[in-house]
Formats: sequence, structure tokens, C-alpha cells
Amino acid sequence: MKLTVVGGGSTYTPELIDGFARLRAVLPIEEFWLVDPDPERLRLVGGMSQRMFRAAGHPGRIVPTPDLVAGVADADVVLLQLRVGGQAARHGDETWPHECGCIGQETTGPGGFAKALRTVPVVLRVAEEVRRHAKPDAWIVDFTNPVGIVTRALLQEGHRAVGLCNVAIGFQRRFAGMLGLEPAQVELGHVGLNHLTWERSVLVRDGDGTRDVLPELLGERLEQLAGEVELPASLLRLLGDVPSYYLRYYYAHDEVLREQRDAPTRAEAVQRVERELLELYGDPAVDTKPEQLAQRGGAFYSEAAVDLIASLTGDRGDVQVVNLRNDGTLPFLPDDHVIEVPATVDARGVTARPVDPLPADHAALVAHVAGYERLALDAAVHGGRDRVRRAMLAHPLVGQYDRAERLTDLLIAHNREHLAWA
Ligand code: G6P
Ligand code: MN
Repeated sequence: MKLTVVGGGSTYTPELIDGFARLRAVLPIEEFWLVDPDPERLRLVGGMSQRMFRAAGHPGRIVPTPDLVAGVADADVVLLQLRVGGQAARHGDETWPHECGCIGQETTGPGGFAKALRTVPVVLRVAEEVRRHAKPDAWIVDFTNPVGIVTRALLQEGHRAVGLCNVAIGFQRRFAGMLGLEPAQVELGHVGLNHLTWERSVLVRDGDGTRDVLPELLGERLEQLAGEVELPASLLRLLGDVPSYYLRYYYAHDEVLREQRDAPTRAEAVQRVERELLELYGDPAVDTKPEQLAQRGGAFYSEAAVDLIASLTGDRGDVQVVNLRNDGTLPFLPDDHVIEVPATVDARGVTARPVDPLPADHAALVAHVAGYERLALDAAVHGGRDRVRRAMLAHPLVGQYDRAERLTDLLIAHNREHLAWA
């Protein structure tokens, strides 16, 4: 099997390599290609990856290359983890919205919109090369944010794509840990849009059947659960479920904004960690995943990738949380919208499992953000200031016309070099 990572020079890549090395019985990879436009990153991350494979006794070949076409040629799976504009553009996403009293975040709100505008055209160009040069039945696994919008862009163009995020697998691992169970014994009632999800049940296999232990967890572990998503325990009790950490940007918007105004941005923090990591990756004595990597947000992301690819290529038919077409799963959204729910994964692809009806408040927020996402994708694909204004106004964290106008100006001013139409 040939697996290609586009954005392979990311400091996250050794996380993937570690997962692929540890789990090689599940997923035998012969060739692992890393594609990146940055030669220095390729040298450092490529070298580190080769040492890690060797140290783990993995027989696979790692090939770093700046050549996208050679990288994706005859690939079975192409994993997208690119970041247009790097951490510098992210720093912008995390700061300019403050001028209008909005939180700054790379996937949520005006900053997430800017990232979508920068990213969708690049991802679609990469995907065209995959279509032309990879194996005809190759899968695209998208980790590139904003995953919901990017995955929909890919599906709309007829690509064989599945979107993936580590939020769900993180919850599954944490719940399993609290319950003293293996992760595979825990199935999440995870529902919503990427980075806008709630855990509405925690099913545990019990004898012949399954039992929802979320009510018990919300009783016995309420403070811990609330602490992990940094939301008030009383909110979790009120909702009767566990919102993801990203819901904090909605439920605690003004509090987050206050915190952000006094703190360095996440982009700055990540840049610091990245400098340390790249130094270690350049050290020929280092051949295992450095502990500093745990300071990035990607916990378990290699496991999620291994699980998904193993089931798509090995026809396992197990249940995993992915980003996929709605097709009636959430009846209040269009069929072609991309949602994040548990799905059966086999060689034919991903099929959403049925989802219990959402309460009115959850459904309303999902529908509102989905409306914004549709307008945002339209703006990303077709460009134009008016499309940006329309999508900006539609975002629930923006909502007011004068603010949408100012945010549109700021977004364009900060991203001009990445927007072909601006
Ligand atoms: C989580 C999210 C990812 C996001 C990452 C950011 O893993 O699910 O979508 O890219 O955090 O991590 P970072 O270390 O870049 O802040
Ligand atoms: Mn994510």
C-alpha cells in the first residue's frame, strides 16, 4: 500500500509515523510519501520519520518529495493535512476578529471563515492531481481544517473523500479511561458538525446488549468532564450531554474573548513548540516521538487515521466517527451537507448510523452554522466580496450587518495574498 501525506512537512507527521509504526499489523504500509513545498521541513521531518520507522523495525520506505504529482502517483490513500499560510496566517485568524468584538479562532467564527477561503481552492487543486494520478479507487482522508467545509468541497467535486477530526476519538479514549474499559467497548453518540458537536450518549457493551452510561458519568464525573471542556458543570447538567471544547466559543464567547485579549495566540505558542520539535527532528540521535509533540492538539490523531484507513482498505465494517454526507441523517439539513457522526466504515466507504432526533437548541445551532458553512463554501469556490459578506453575516457569532461589513474588510486585508479574486 502506498500512503501519501500532503503537508507531510508538518511537525505533526511523526505523530502519524508513530501510529503507523505501532499499528503496522492493522495497516501494512509499504510506501509512505511525504509531500511538502518546504525543502527544509521535508529534510527534517523526512529524516526523523525514516529514523522512527527504522527504530521500530518497520520495513516501509519513506519518501519525502516537493513534487505533488510524483507523491500522489499510484497512491492508495492520500491524507491531507496542509495549512495554507502557515502559523502566520493562523495568528491573523486568531487576532483580527478581536477588532470587532469576536473571538479569534482558526476553525470557528470569522477566523475559521478566512481559513476556509484560503484553503478550499488549494485542496481542490491537490485533489485534481489525486484524481489524475492516484489509483482510481484511492481514498482522500481530509484532516485539513475547517474539515466540514473542506470535505464538502471535495465531495461536491466527486472525490472519494472522508473528513476526520480527533475530537471524537479523544472523548472515546477519555470515557473508556474513566470506565476502565478498552476504547473499542465504548461507542459514542457523537453528533453535529465538525467542531460543533455534543456527546449525547456513551454506549457500553454489556453482556448481549448495550447500555448508555452517560447519565452515570454526568453524575459521578460531572466536574471532571466539565473541566475538560472548560464549561460550567451546571451547563452540562442542563443540557444532559457533553459539548465539545469548541462549543466554548459559543456558550462562553465573551469569556473566551476576554481571555484571548490578554494572552499570546495559539499560533504563537505552536510556533514555539514547532521550533523545539524541528530542532529535535534534526538530531540524528532522536528516533522516537518527542514528548513535546503532546503539546500540540493532535492527541490520538494517528490512531483515528490508522483506524479509518484500515477499515476503508481492509473492509472491516466497524463504527467510527467521521465527516460525511448527511443524506437524511439530520433531517433538518440538506442531503449534501457534511455532518460529523458515527458511521460504518468498509470498502464501499462510510455510511452514517441513525441518529436520535436532536433537541431544538442543538438542532437550531447546527442549522445556523450549516447555513453559514454553505455560504462560506460558495464564497471559497467562487470568490467575491459580496459572497464573503453574505457568509460572514450568516455566522451566528457575527450576526449584525455593520460588524459583518467590518469583518469582511479585515478578512480581505489580512488574506489578500491567499485570495486569487481579492
Ligand atoms: C485539535 C483539532 C484539530 C486542530 C488541532 C489544533 O486536534 O481537532 O482540528 O487542528 O486541535 O492543534 P494545535 O496544536 O495546532 O493548536
Ligand atoms: Mn479537528
